[in-house]
Amino acid sequence: MFIESPRYTERFGSVRMSHIQRVISLDSGARKRLPAHTSTGVIKIDEETIRYFESRMAVVIPIKDEKLRLLEGVVSGVPHDCLVIVASNSQRERVDRFRMEGDVLSQLCRFTFRQALIIHQKDPVFAKAAAQANYTDILDRNGLVRDGKGEGMIMGLIVAKAAGKEYVGYIDADNYFPGSVLEYVRNYAAGFSLAQSPYSMVRILWRYKPKISAGLYFKKWGRISEITNKYLNSLISTKTGFETEVVKTGNAGEHAMSMQLAEILPFASGYAVESQELISLFENFGGILPTRESKVIEQGIDILQIETRNPHLHEERGNQHLNDILLCSLSTIYHSPLCDKEVKQAILADLINQGILKEGEIPTPVHVHAPLRNANVTKLVEAVRSNLDRYRVLR
Ligand code: GDD
Ligand code: MG
Repeated sequence: MFIESPRYTERFGSVRMSHIQRVISLDSGARKRLPAHTSTGVIKIDEETIRYFESRMAVVIPIKDEKLRLLEGVVSGVPHDCLVIVASNSQRERVDRFRMEGDVLSQLCRFTFRQALIIHQKDPVFAKAAAQANYTDILDRNGLVRDGKGEGMIMGLIVAKAAGKEYVGYIDADNYFPGSVLEYVRNYAAGFSLAQSPYSMVRILWRYKPKISAGLYFKKWGRISEITNKYLNSLISTKTGFETEVVKTGNAGEHAMSMQLAEILPFASGYAVESQELISLFENFGGILPTRESKVIEQGIDILQIETRNPHLHEERGNQHLNDILLCSLSTIYHSPLCDKEVKQAILADLINQGILKEGEIPTPVHVHAPLRNANVTKLVEAVRSNLDRYRVLR
C-alpha cells in the first residue's frame, strides 16, 4: 500500500504520538523498486512486510449478541494469516447465540482452510486459570470474568499470547463492510512496520462514518470521538503548555498493539478501554508522574494514528448508548491525576449541558484492571495454552 510518511510526531516524556497518516492507496503492486517519479512524503509498504506482521498477529473480535451475518462478514475480511480469536459475551440461555457464533465460524474456517478460536467470557476454565494466576481483578463476585467489552479484549489478549502471537489487533463484530476489516488489519501491519519501539500501538481513524438522514451523508466525526479527543488534547496541552490537536483516535475501537505493550498496559472496563489506554500511557510514561519502567523509557512508546480509505458502517444503538460511552470515556480523563481543575470543570459543564450529568454530580470512576504483567502471566498463559484445544473451532 501507499501511506503518508510519518510527518510529525509529538513527544510526551517517552510517548511518541504521530499525527494522522493517511492511506493514499490500498495496493502498491508487485514491483519492489519504485519508479523515480514517486512523490516524496508517501511511502510504500510492500506485501511481504504486511504479510510478515499479519502472520504474527491475532485479531480479537469482541462480540455481544451481534447479527451472525455481520460476524461472518467481519471474519471473512480478516487476512488469512492472522489468527482470529472471537471473545464472546453473547447469550447462552434460551437461544444459545454463542454456539451459533461457533457454528458460523467453523463453517467459514472449513471452507477457507484456516483455524480460529472462540471463547466465552463466562468460561469457567478461563476464570479458574485467572484466579490461580492471581489475576483476580478481572473476575466478578461469582468468580467469572466481568461483563464488558474491555474485559472481552483482555481475555482475547491472553488467548493470543497463549497462541504465541506477538501482536494483537481488535476489530468490532458489528462492521457491515468486510473490505474495511481487511484494510484495518493491513493498516495495523503497516503501522507496526513503521514503529521504532517494540512497545507500539496503531489506532485507526475512519475516513468517514456515513449517516443516513435525508440521504447518505459522509460524516467525518462522531459526537463521542470529537468530545473525547478535545479533552484528551486539553489534558496534554495544560501539562506541556503548548496547545495540541494531535489526538484524533481517543475512542478508536479499531486498534492494535504489540504484545510487549499490551502486557504493561492497564485496561479499563467496558467502553472506557480505548480512552483509558491513552490516559494510562500519558500517566505512566508521559514524563510528568514518576515511573519505574526504565526499559520502556529507554525504548519509548510509539503510537501511530492511521486514517483509512474505507468508510466505517456499524450498528446504530441510539442516544442512551452513546451517552453511556461518552460518560465513561470522559470519566477516564476526569479522574486522571494529570487532569487539572479547568479541564475537570469543562468536562463537567459539557456533561451537564448534554443532560448526561446533573448539577453537583461527577462521573463515576471506571474500573481499571491491573496490567497483565502484575499477575503471574506465565502461569496464566500456560494454563490457557493447555486448554487451547477447547477453544478451537476446528477440532
Ligand atoms: N466480549 C464482549 N463483551 N464484547 C462486547 C461486550 C461485552 O460485554 N459489549 C459489547 N461488545 C462488542 C460488541 O458486540 C461490538 O462488537 C464491540 O464490542 C463494540 O461495541 P459497540 O456497542 O458496537 O460499540 P460502539 O460501536 O457503539 O462504540 C464505539 O466506541 C467505543 C468507545 O470508545 C466502538 O468503537 C467501541 O469499540 C468503543 O469501545
Ligand atoms: Mg459498534
